[in-house]
Formats: sequence, C-alpha cells, structure tokens
Amino acid sequence: QQTLYFSRHGESEFNVIGKIGGNAPLSPRGKKYADSLAKHIHALNLPSLQVWTSTLQRTKATSAGIKAPQLHLPELDEIYSGDCESLTYEELQELFPRELALRDHEKLKYRYPQGESYLDVMKRLIPILSQLETETNVLVVSHQAVLRCILAYFFETPMEEVPYMHVPLHTIIKVTLQGYNYNMETVKMPI
Ligand code: G3H
Repeated sequence: QQTLYFSRHGESEFNVIGKIGGNAPLSPRGKKYADSLAKHIHALNLPSLQVWTSTLQRTKATSAGIKAPQLHLPELDEIYSGDCESLTYEELQELFPRELALRDHEKLKYRYPQGESYLDVMKRLIPILSQLETETNVLVVSHQAVLRCILAYFFETPMEEVPYMHVPLHTIIKVTLQGYNYNMETVKMPI
C-alpha cells in the first residue's frame, strides 16, 4: 500500500501581512505548527520516511524538526509571481490592475510578468510526480499553488478547478492508494 503525506509550510510572516511569494521566515504560529507536525509524524513511526520540501526557508523550517532524510527541490517552490512578488493583493490592484483582471479572467493560464502560470508549475512538477508515484512514506512540504497541482494530479481534478482548490494551512493531508483509487484524509492541527 502506498501512502504519501502533504503539508503546506507553517504560517509565514508574509501570510500574516497578506503578501504573495517571497522568502519570508515562519511566524510564531508557523513555528508551533512545525513542532506539531514533527510530533505527529514521529508518532506514526513510518518506515523509510523521506521528507521533500521546496528550497524556500518557510518549508525547510517547517520540516526541520523531523528526523528523516530531507531533500530540498526547486520544483516544489511556490508559483513564482515575477514582478508581483512580495506584494499584497491590494498593492497588486493598485500597481497592476490589468494583470489582476487578466488573472481573474483565466487563472490557470495566466502568467505573472517575468513569472509563472499554474500551467508552468504543472510542467515543472512532472518529474516529481512520476517519482512520487513510485514512492511510499514521503512527506512533501510545499506551497498552496504547488500542492493544488500535485493533489489535482492524484485526484484527476479538472484543470480549470486547480487554481481554486482549497488547501488550508496547518493541515496534514494523507493520500493512500487503495486498489486503483487514491483516498484522502486530512488532519487539522489545533494551532
Ligand atoms: O502565494 C500564492 C498562493 O499560494 C497562491 O495563491 O494562486 O490563489 O493567488 P493564488
């Protein structure tokens, strides 16, 4: 039986102030989540556990307390918002209203200026997805847009729905292959 675990990074200082992208550290609540995640995962006693994170400090800090081999993969980095990195959605509305309107119109295909689209993210995830399909007991600690794409792949979510999927913070998502079907269970950590 194949079992994979997924989590977003703990709340970051940018989440607190509503900025997108960037490379902010965890907030105090995010650090608490990192502790609970490590305790939860250790209690499962998973044989040959591996942890895959992005290269950004908020995912690395989220998994730092977990005793297991850790890989930091750029393919798991958050959607890159190019010229719009480190802005709030309000600032975006003020500085790049046309971009925001275009994005609202076609969020899946929309590519940030000098940045990426959801379709670009899906493309860079292909090698990771093929690898993940052959593994068990991997915990992937990544970001909202990336986890939307990964979960959509396993659950065959229609492409147009991917940019709107709900992947909450401070929640562990367990995906198990049963026969030919993937099954999802979520555990919300009380933070
Ligand atoms: O920071 C970006 C978010 O994780 C993705 O949000 O694509 O819904 O704007 P969005």
